Amino acid sequence: MLAKTLPILRAAKDMKYAVGGFNIYNLEGIRAVIRAAENRNSAVLLQIHPNALNVGGSELIQLCIFAAENSSVPVGVHLDHCDDEKWIQQAISLGVSSIMADGSHLSNLANTAFVNSVTPLAHAQGIAIEAELGRMSGTEDGLIVEDYEARMTDPVDAVQFVEETSADLLAVCIGNVHGTYRNPPILDFARLKMIRNLVDVPLVLHGASGLPNTLIRDAIGYGICKFNVNTEVRTAYLQTLQQIPKHTDLPRIMEIGIDAMQSVVEEKIDLFGSRNSAKHYREADENSTKDNRF
Ligand code: 13P
Repeated sequence: MLAKTLPILRAAKDMKYAVGGFNIYNLEGIRAVIRAAENRNSAVLLQIHPNALNVGGSELIQLCIFAAENSSVPVGVHLDHCDDEKWIQQAISLGVSSIMADGSHLSNLANTAFVNSVTPLAHAQGIAIEAELGRMSGTEDGLIVEDYEARMTDPVDAVQFVEETSADLLAVCIGNVHGTYRNPPILDFARLKMIRNLVDVPLVLHGASGLPNTLIRDAIGYGICKFNVNTEVRTAYLQTLQQIPKHTDLPRIMEIGIDAMQSVVEEKIDLFGSRNSAKHYREADENSTKDNRF
């Protein structure tokens, strides 16, 4: 079923597991994520980066929504890292579950203003808003943020940011990086613990690819309830495609690609602890955005 993001994550927060937001680019990616979620009886989020929309167009959003509606487990459709109001409005009108209104490149004040400029329209449709405070380094789909531009999330600023915006989810920067970790990752759990103690909304960790299992488990223990995963799934797909013998039929190539991505997603679902979480989703008795209008 097409599910609301906030009830999925509130259940995860209450029961101390995390749900994966997996970036997809095409039908094979959508199939892989949904098949994995159905196999594991888990809630899941299909994430679309705006750069994937530049190729797939609004049809890619519609495909995700249609696939989610036809799935046997709760599937949210999430627009990832978007600062383009055209795509935000398009996603709202198509009925996604949540949107990351990404103003993390702006000052805190401008980030607050940007988030508040998109939430009324989203909330009016029951669509949750994710915002990020701080700035992550790394590379993702053409978005490159150098190390010197990175900023960790300040816990005190986070309280003010969550109070002053209508953001429903907060993405934190605690040493996490998009893409490949060039050095062994170190996450600032003292900072995360402080943020968790001060802020009530579900917390999100981007850049989950390449984090060792122990760090993932600790991050859940300190309050992360959504992990964003892209690189590991994408790499498994691309590496597998490169090994396929010439003259293989296209449907067979598609299946091989789906299988490669599905295995990674299933592993992550197990690691995040969301296996069998599908039953926790109850849209009817939960509010779907922070301001409780639903
Ligand atoms: P990775 O590519 O590092 O898994 O990060 C994905 C992400 O954070 C998507 O928003």
